[in-house]
Amino acid sequence: MCGIVGYIGYRDAYPIVLKGLQRLEYRGYDSAGIALFDDKELKLCKTKGKVADLKEKLENEIDTSGTLGIGHTRWATHGVPNDVNSHPHVSNSGNLVIIHNGIIENYESLKKELIKRGYKFHSDTDTEVLVNLIEDVIKKEDVKLGKAVQIALNQTIGAYAIAVFDKAKPNEIVVARLGSPLAIGVGEDEYFIASDASPFIEFTNNAIYLEDGEMAVVRRNKGVKVRKIKDDSLVDPYIQELQLNLEQIEKNNFDHFMLKEIYEQPSAIRDTYRGRLLAEEGIIRMAGIDDNLERFLNARRIVIVACGTSWHAGLVAEYVFEDLARIPVEVEYASEFRYRNPIINSDDIVLAISQSGETADTMAAIKLAKEKGAFVFGVCNVVGSSISRETNAGAYTHAGPEIGVASTKAFTTQITVLTLIALKLAKAKGSISNTDYHMHLQELETIPQKIEVALKQNDHIKEVALKYKDARNCLYLGRGFNFPVALEGALKLKEISYIHAEGYPAAEMKHGPIALIDEEMPVVVIATRKGHYEKVVSNIQEIKSRQGKIIGIVTEGDTSVRDLADHVIEVPDTIEALTPLITTIPLQLLSYHIAVLLGKDVDQPRNLAKSVTVE
Ligand code: M6R
Repeated sequence: MCGIVGYIGYRDAYPIVLKGLQRLEYRGYDSAGIALFDDKELKLCKTKGKVADLKEKLENEIDTSGTLGIGHTRWATHGVPNDVNSHPHVSNSGNLVIIHNGIIENYESLKKELIKRGYKFHSDTDTEVLVNLIEDVIKKEDVKLGKAVQIALNQTIGAYAIAVFDKAKPNEIVVARLGSPLAIGVGEDEYFIASDASPFIEFTNNAIYLEDGEMAVVRRNKGVKVRKIKDDSLVDPYIQELQLNLEQIEKNNFDHFMLKEIYEQPSAIRDTYRGRLLAEEGIIRMAGIDDNLERFLNARRIVIVACGTSWHAGLVAEYVFEDLARIPVEVEYASEFRYRNPIINSDDIVLAISQSGETADTMAAIKLAKEKGAFVFGVCNVVGSSISRETNAGAYTHAGPEIGVASTKAFTTQITVLTLIALKLAKAKGSISNTDYHMHLQELETIPQKIEVALKQNDHIKEVALKYKDARNCLYLGRGFNFPVALEGALKLKEISYIHAEGYPAAEMKHGPIALIDEEMPVVVIATRKGHYEKVVSNIQEIKSRQGKIIGIVTEGDTSVRDLADHVIEVPDTIEALTPLITTIPLQLLSYHIAVLLGKDVDQPRNLAKSVTVE
């Protein structure tokens, strides 16, 4: 949560920092602020609201010149979103200026101490405490900013990515990270600081990703010095060449990132299996699995930990792993797993799924699993993210940057990777017949093209959305492999349209939720002609008898559900285990169109942020 960005060099910092904040806005968007320094004067502007509000306020209020600047876009943790609580925060002397992503958990006790020593606080934030703590260290110990930051951070408990400068020494910015990401873009005589590389991609392809527990002093014209915060030891920074390009982080001709990302799914899935799936030869290549094959084959069970949409992908994986590879799987919310003293042994494999690779709960679950001796395998999208580094081995999804807060292509590419793993293990274990194995591989290769066909239903789905946009509640039903898809469909609707929605296994209706059905209740039923088709048709009949409005997701050419349902959305046929990759598409489009018709902010829904780096 929260995006931070900074610049020090020879260009005007303002346009770089502003554009950077716009690109990082997916990380949090309830308030924003920028501080600029032009060798004489500190210019600070902050406001409740989005980066667009900041731009308007700032360009009316302050002169934007200056070759040093830092900016912040916030997802509030301590203190309501308002102008005062917005970052940057300034120390009591007016010299130190800080931006912070994370939480200082012991801020109250630190604050009490500082108040005793005469410090005054204007905001409710933990960050204002941190900047004054650094100032206090400078005064007490007579040290430079870098050292003071180090001493102060060693007194804190919590998580942070910070950037801080001293207006009395405007040739350096000090940065540090623990638990929240921080990248330093290395240019010619100029440096960029950001939560991810997107703010500086048009200026440099070279970046240093700080590791947890590292800090850096970034000096104008003089380079970057990285050290460990705990023991002060110097670190030789690894300068990584970025693979990102501008096109990937722009909306191009789409109205929203979410729509662009829905439409990117065919190519994203091809990218996911490129070089891994050799259908003709009947081979699946995945280094992370090949290197640990014995461990997987001998595992007592696989425990999947994840949050939100990634957790739903984990549920699909449970069906796929157990059905194809006959390995017992349990799927846990990372936030529950981390606190419930789970029984984990060294012959368990913990599989962590995360798009961002930064989710705090998932990270904590991984650390706990490792402490208990489990081997942890990660499925992440963001290359080099904290989770991808913390896990013992892993596989990237290669979906490309996902910027819309509602996860779409991350979900289908996670399912693709997990299906590849399940098939690979099934083959190695001999739990799948040769014919079935080859059939799955060949079918998996056709999925992108089938998704393209499903996307052609867009206009029809928009018409359905128009009919149900004013619904107060909505139910999503599915069975077997498509039960997690029902959960995901409901989550999509909730998070971007704010309509209450629930997903259920279709057969559970009769145990309670059927009481909700009346003529006002739209029920989206995934009823493809596979698995428990006849049973789902019976469930549809039960809803129909109670006047519920039925939207059926059906296989092309289906007639039984068409006769019963108020609307049907057709999708191409595929093997049962692969249906989630296709049935998900109409549900994504349905929630997208409903949210657009309701005038909601699709890419930045209220109260949410893309990567949840707080617990
Ligand atoms: O980055 P992660 O996959 O770890 O994120 C997990 C959830 O926060 C995320 O999937 C969230 O539920 C999405 N907004 C859902 O669309």
